[in-house]
Amino acid sequence: MNKHVAPYSLLFLFAIAVASCKTQSPITSTTVNVNQSQGVYQYRDEDPTVKPFFSDRAGVTGRNGMVASAHPEASEVGLAILKAGGNAVDAAVAVQFALAVVYPGAGNIGGGGFMVYRDNGGKAYTLDYREKAPGHATPNMYLDSLGNVRPGLSISGHLASGVPGSVDGMAEAHKRFGKLTWAQVLQPAVDLAGKGFALTERDAVGLNRIKPDLNTINPGKAYFLKSVMSTDTTTWHKGELLVQADLAKTLQRIQTQGRAGFYEGETARLLSEEMVRGKGMITEEDLKNYHSVWRDPLQAKYKEYNVITMPPTSSGGVALLQMMRFTESYPLRRWGWNRDSTVQVMIEAERRVYADRAKFLGDPDFVKVPVTQLINPDYLRTRWTDFSWAKATDSRAVKGGMIPGYESLETTHFSVVDKEGNAVSITTTLNGGYGSRVVVGGAGFFMNNEMDDFSVKPGAPNMYGLIGNQANAIAPNKRMLSSMTPTILEKDGKLFMVVGTPGGSTIMTSVYQTILNVIEHGMTMQQSVNALKFHHQWLPDKTIFENGAFSDVSINALKNRGYILEKLSNTLGRMDCVLIRADGSYEGASDPRADNTARGY
Ligand code: GLY
Repeated sequence: MNKHVAPYSLLFLFAIAVASCKTQSPITSTTVNVNQSQGVYQYRDEDPTVKPFFSDRAGVTGRNGMVASAHPEASEVGLAILKAGGNAVDAAVAVQFALAVVYPGAGNIGGGGFMVYRDNGGKAYTLDYREKAPGHATPNMYLDSLGNVRPGLSISGHLASGVPGSVDGMAEAHKRFGKLTWAQVLQPAVDLAGKGFALTERDAVGLNRIKPDLNTINPGKAYFLKSVMSTDTTTWHKGELLVQADLAKTLQRIQTQGRAGFYEGETARLLSEEMVRGKGMITEEDLKNYHSVWRDPLQAKYKEYNVITMPPTSSGGVALLQMMRFTESYPLRRWGWNRDSTVQVMIEAERRVYADRAKFLGDPDFVKVPVTQLINPDYLRTRWTDFSWAKATDSRAVKGGMIPGYESLETTHFSVVDKEGNAVSITTTLNGGYGSRVVVGGAGFFMNNEMDDFSVKPGAPNMYGLIGNQANAIAPNKRMLSSMTPTILEKDGKLFMVVGTPGGSTIMTSVYQTILNVIEHGMTMQQSVNALKFHHQWLPDKTIFENGAFSDVSINALKNRGYILEKLSNTLGRMDCVLIRADGSYEGASDPRADNTARGY
């Protein structure tokens, strides 16, 4: 297998070079705020303006299996499959389909995703089931005659969808690694759709929020509404049962026919008819031709850890490794969690990484993505020469790096570990919440709005403010670039952590911080998930942060060096992770910011 592993010696050279940049550090941190002896991190700063954790939720412990996902019903399904003798892939497939029922905002069969899988023998695999542009897509399909972006066209409605990959991805994963039958792993989702499930408060609020779009984009359809009448004013409430009869039939077709139950026959016909009705592009031929791809995992060392992550079509894995390597040699632990020096080097890493993303990253089946060079320490060193402790680097002066010979908010993540130590990390998406908001008539599922993840015009920001270029331009059957970063870490050759999150452009910075919180700052997995987060993405040139993430002292220190900081009224990340503790037990950690739940035994 051609794994992109950079040699240690280069890393060492990079460490020396970076260390030389550190001598003028205006470190203001004086406390070491880690209590490793108890295995639990304690924030020891006197500054009351910092509230390190979003909540004090505790992790879930298990020894035989663990599932962490965005919805309690889906985690329960995964746990039941593990208890029935299924392995991590069986449970992951069941969770993917269960989320398509109980978490229609991001769980899906009308979207796509990525899977990182590590078997208990240490062999790693990645599966790219990202959506593809339809066969008739063109580079300028979202531009008017003057070359201006036609607002909203890549975000909502029928033209916003790529060809879905989730069902093919799950069929591929199950065919290769599943232990239980396909019918068994589909059954919980069929039941949840046909018999219904009780809405959580958050489920109800989400469906009520999109009611106007459901009426305007899907006239005459009652999906996710209490009545087909657009004048109906009733709303959903916590505890009410949501039954999805058409979705149950679609899932049954998938259950009995496998991938053909989605990409051919009745479901394909309903989907292509929906596209004709709304002037979308996806045809039955596009569906029939869709195939997910097994790709070589992207792997690299970080200290005593081996990081296994997603290669392109995701930009997330490359970005994660770049960020980790940029900051690897700095004494983050000594400086302390979210102290100004810690934050400064992390922001500067993030700034440079997103500039590279815009220039170089795209579908590797269409463009040459210089993955090995991008994570090479020599290259990273050239990107760090303009780093200054005195002053924030100006994003306008940061372009993508030079590589010789080189010619570009709603998603969900779940993590599963089974009794044998097989581990799955999956991030899957419709892109925005409830995708394009188009529900396929007769089939009952939301379609994605993933076309917005292409660069619809060079330099024009997408819905996440991300900028792209030629590498991520639209082409027929091409996959759009992603930020999803499902990741697995090994320590001393053994499974150590399974990690990932939704969050659009903020995915990789949240994954980066969540990993560092554990391995640099000594947090438990759950503390790391609870910990408040920040994000910088090159452009716009500002750092957003969750309220309480930084002390006033750190804020002032960073502002004095030219950093623009913006406190968020909402939150960052919805992490679902599993840590293997030193005693071999599993710590399931789910994000307290939403309905996320870990279940283990
Ligand atoms: N749709 C979000 C992502 O793939 O990055």
